[in-house]
Amino acid sequence: MSVATQQFTLRQANQAFLAQPRKMLIDGKWVAAASGKTFAVFDPGTGREIAQVAAADKADIDLAVAAARRAFTNKAWAGMKACDRERLLNRLADLVEANADELAELESLDNGKSVNLARYVDVVAAVDCLRYMAGWPTKIEGSTIPVSVPYMPDAKFFAYTMREPVGVVGQIIPWNFPLLMAAWKLAPALATGCTVVLKPAEQTPLSALRLGELVLEAGYPAGVVNICPGFGETAGAALAAHPDVDKVAFTGSTEVGKLIVQAALGNLKKVSLELGGKSPAIVLPDADMDIAIPGAAMAIFFNQGQVCCAGSRLYVHKSIFDKVVDGVAGVAKGFTVGHGLSPSTQMGPLVSEEQALRVASYIEDGLKSGVEAVTGGRRLDQPGYFVEPTVLVKVKPEMKVVKEEIFGPVVVAMPFDDLDEVVTQANNTIYGLGASIWTRDLGKMHRLAPALKAGTVWVNCHSVIDAALPFGGFKQSGWGRELGREAIDLYMERKSVCAMV
Ligand code: NAI
Ligand code: MG
Repeated sequence: MSVATQQFTLRQANQAFLAQPRKMLIDGKWVAAASGKTFAVFDPGTGREIAQVAAADKADIDLAVAAARRAFTNKAWAGMKACDRERLLNRLADLVEANADELAELESLDNGKSVNLARYVDVVAAVDCLRYMAGWPTKIEGSTIPVSVPYMPDAKFFAYTMREPVGVVGQIIPWNFPLLMAAWKLAPALATGCTVVLKPAEQTPLSALRLGELVLEAGYPAGVVNICPGFGETAGAALAAHPDVDKVAFTGSTEVGKLIVQAALGNLKKVSLELGGKSPAIVLPDADMDIAIPGAAMAIFFNQGQVCCAGSRLYVHKSIFDKVVDGVAGVAKGFTVGHGLSPSTQMGPLVSEEQALRVASYIEDGLKSGVEAVTGGRRLDQPGYFVEPTVLVKVKPEMKVVKEEIFGPVVVAMPFDDLDEVVTQANNTIYGLGASIWTRDLGKMHRLAPALKAGTVWVNCHSVIDAALPFGGFKQSGWGRELGREAIDLYMERKSVCAMV
């Protein structure tokens, strides 16, 4: 592991963006918090403050929800033709693309991830998601249904279903892919004709605020998109509990997901949840080592392991266990660790001091209970929130490092004997977001894929996500599926119309 230099200069546009306290977007205007409060945003690569941002609280959420409600019924939006919703979303995608380099830099600075990753994964995928969802407004259809009504033998009916937007939507997103998560949330909501109050994570509000400027530039009517940065316990909780919000969409921890469900009880708003994971990567004895070893390494180390579907439990057939574990550790040792904006950085810091402490304490807990670190195991002794990429062995199924989501660059590796055993082990978790199988044996792959309790099963790849492919979790990894056709369903009601003719 080598350390990258910390030298970089911010683009002029981003310097200007950060120089002013950033306001929140309510009803088409940038406004300060009603309380006047702001909060600090930090550069994870140095620990230094980079911006002040308006801190939304209940009063601001009330204003934003009221604006979203007005916009929902306003003709400018409610009466907009499907082809014009398509055109607007495409225009937003074009604007994000036109500002890709600047957005990637802002994202890297705010989150810590490498600027190349931000540019060629986060921004590219965000644009693609907006464009994919832009295709939907003109393709949202109901059906005609042959109703018989056997207890009314002489009557004839014409019945059909139609789709309507669910209404005002509260969207609460995390810090690991801030711009991309905003795109995943906004795109289907805007495709269907909903209006939105988006609350970015307090650690990483900047790219969502820049996106808000692009939303206005694209020409969305005032109040269709409101963006309220703030803390979870205040702004987030107020949004989830708001009686005039029709649906809440949340991505984050399973713990907070349960709070969202409770908060939603008051008005029984619709809820969709994309929560934590402890996804298994399973390497079979016949796997192509040149694919499986770097693949299993990237399954966990991509984005510093701060990925909900990260392959954080590595199950390797005992005949190749040492080879795969040494290989994955070798990849970890080869990373250049450093500030996200240094061009040579391959692995950046974690997002926050809190996250670095949390991840380091999981490692420490493991080491205390007899786990062995093949590589890594420490927080780096330098400014910023850096934790070494870590491979742990000699773990037992009941240990915290095996059971709980660490959400950092830490993988636990375990040997297995046969397929039935590895299925049992892989499914022995409260989560069910992703799983990967590394093999050249099609028969075994087709036995494993249906047996794994996970929303996505990857084969010879991991964390490959596409705007067209539904994504979400079994068990405590969530409710509903984002992306694909299913994301449109999350934001629509279905109405049955039954006419006696
Ligand atoms: P979190 O679940 O607290 O934060 C996610 C979002 O929820 C943020 O916007 C936050 O402000 C908001 N939030 C927090 N408390 C809330 C509440 N009571 N009501 C409404 N909104 C609330 O996640 P946190 O604390 O940042 O990270 C803790 C752990 O959560 C991580 O270590 C990781 O295991 C997991 N996590 C999972 C993510 C995923 O993509 N599935 C993303 C982020 C975290
Ligand atoms: Mg939290």
